[in-house]
Amino acid sequence: MAKKVVVTGCHGQLGRAIKQILAEHYQLINTDVAELDITDVSAVLALVRETKPYGIINCAAYTAVDKCEEDMENAYRINAIGTRNLAMAAREAKAKLVHISTDYVFDGRGNMPYTEFDPTGPIGVYGASKLAGENFVKEFADQYFIVRTAWLYGEGANFVRTMLRLSKEKKVVQVVADQIGTPTSAVELARAIAWLLPTDEYGLYHGTCAGECSWADLAEATYRLMGLKMEVERISTAEYKTAAKRPAYSVLRNYMLELIGGYRFAYWHDALKEHLKNT
Ligand SMILES: NC(=O)c1ccc[n+]([C@@H]2O[C@H](COP(=O)([O-])OP(=O)(O)OC[C@H]3O[C@@H](n4cnc5c(N)ncnc54)[C@H](OP(=O)(O)O)[C@@H]3O)[C@@H](O)[C@H]2O)c1
Repeated sequence: MAKKVVVTGCHGQLGRAIKQILAEHYQLINTDVAELDITDVSAVLALVRETKPYGIINCAAYTAVDKCEEDMENAYRINAIGTRNLAMAAREAKAKLVHISTDYVFDGRGNMPYTEFDPTGPIGVYGASKLAGENFVKEFADQYFIVRTAWLYGEGANFVRTMLRLSKEKKVVQVVADQIGTPTSAVELARAIAWLLPTDEYGLYHGTCAGECSWADLAEATYRLMGLKMEVERISTAEYKTAAKRPAYSVLRNYMLELIGGYRFAYWHDALKEHLKNT
C-alpha cells in the first residue's frame, strides 16, 4: 500500500506538478481551498488526524505579490497562519512536512547567489509573510523541509504564459531587464521534492534551476524557443511601476543540496525548453 501524502493548494502550478511527478509513488490526498482551507486550524488538524499521512506537501499560498501589499491580512493569514496550522498538524501526526518558500525573503541588494546561511531581509509584504511562514515551520514542526524556490512557472498563471499571450496581441513587449533571478519549472521543483521526501535530510533548502537571467532574457528565450518573432524592449524597474518592490538580484545557490549530494536541478534554459515542448 502506497504511503499517504496530503497535498494542499493542488490546483496551483506546483500542486499540479506534484500530482504529475509523485502520483505513481504515493497515495496523494489532493486538496485545494474548497476541500481544505489551510487557514482553518480545526479543519487542518481534523484532516491530518483522520488520514494520518506519511507526508504533507504545502503548495497553497497567497502568491499575488502586488496584491499582498494592499491585502496584508490575507497574505499573513494564508502564508503565515496557514503554514503554522500545517506545521502543528504535521508534528502531532509525526508526518514529514514539505513547505515552499521564496527568493523574495531576501532584499536583493547583493550580487552573489544567496545560500541558505545568508541573512534574510524581505522588502515587501509577500516576502515578509512567507518568511513568517518559514519561522512557524521551524517553531512548530519537527521533520520538515522548507524549500525556497523562485520565478516559478508551470501549468497556471505565470510570466512565461503571459509572454506567450502577449505575442498574440502585439509585436513588441517591454520587459524589465535589471531584475536578476532564476526561472524554475514547477516540474523540476516537484522532482527535487520527490527526492527529498523519503530522506531524513531535514532543514532549509534553496531549490531553483541552475544559472541566472533577467525577466527580459526569459522573455527572449521563450520567444526564441517557440520560434516567435517578437521584439523585447528592455526597460528598467523604475520604468515599470508595480505596487510591490522586488529584489534586484535574488539568485539562490542550492547550497544545502550541494552539501548533502542531493537533487541537481536542470539549467533554467533546458527546463524552459522541456516545459515549452509540453505546452
Ligand atoms: N509563483 C512563483 O513565481 C513563486 C516564486 C517563489 C516561490 N513560490 C512559492 O511556491 C509555492 C507554489 O506556488 P505556485 O506558483 O504553485 O502557487 P499558485 O499557482 O498561486 O497556487 C497556490 C494554490 O493555493 C491555493 N490557495 C490559496 N489560498 C488557500 C487556502 N487558504 N487554503 C488552501 N489553498 C489555498 C490557490 O487557490 P486560488 O488560486 O483559488 O487562490 C492555488 O490553487 C508557494 O508557496 C509560493 O509562495 C512561488
